[in-house]
Amino acid sequence: PWALRGWLSRSSFWTAWKTRNPDHQPSKLHLLRKNLCQICSKDGSISEVNVSPCPVQPCLLHKGVNYSVNVTFSSKIESQGSQAKVYGEMLHVDIPFPLEQPDGCKCGITCPIEKGRSYSYLNKLPVKSEYPSIKLIVKWELLDDEGQMLFCWKIPVQITS
Ligand SMILES: *[C@@H]1O[C@H](CO)[C@@H](O)[C@H](O)[C@H]1NC(C)=O
Ligand SMILES: *[C@@H]1O[C@H](CO)[C@@H](O)[C@H](O)[C@H]1NC(C)=O
Repeated sequence: PWALRGWLSRSSFWTAWKTRNPDHQPSKLHLLRKNLCQICSKDGSISEVNVSPCPVQPCLLHKGVNYSVNVTFSSKIESQGSQAKVYGEMLHVDIPFPLEQPDGCKCGITCPIEKGRSYSYLNKLPVKSEYPSIKLIVKWELLDDEGQMLFCWKIPVQITS
């Protein structure tokens, strides 16, 4: 039985079980995987990205809906301010995506940002009805006063009516 227990704790069985038991507190890594997120910041200080509702992959973004974004990260730098930049990536071209609130300090982050502290960044992703129905990658960056990255992540989405 000990050998079995050891095997269970190491094997993917445990991961699979957790996935099927929504009441179980999911690990941060699991949440990152759930949203199929790719981290593009060099320091990898993001612990969790939650885009919701996004139950399937790629994220189906319906026109006329505001999606909520919650990014938990630990800052590796100090900064007075922070500005978000969001792009739609298609064929390796970045198309800027306008945000109603690009100021990170008005999105759940207490500024100035301190090094080593953990923050939850909250914003919404408005999907306007005039957007085309296409597949693309959404890239979300938060930059400090000097343009250094506080975080960067990407998620594949499909815009739909
Ligand atoms: C989305 O957010 C915008 C701006 O805050 C608001 O005007 C609009 O009514 C919201 N749409 C929905 C469907 O909640
Ligand atoms: C954002 O995510 C963090 C980490 O999971 C959580 O503690 C916090 O309550 C979330 N905030 C909102 C508004 O959902």
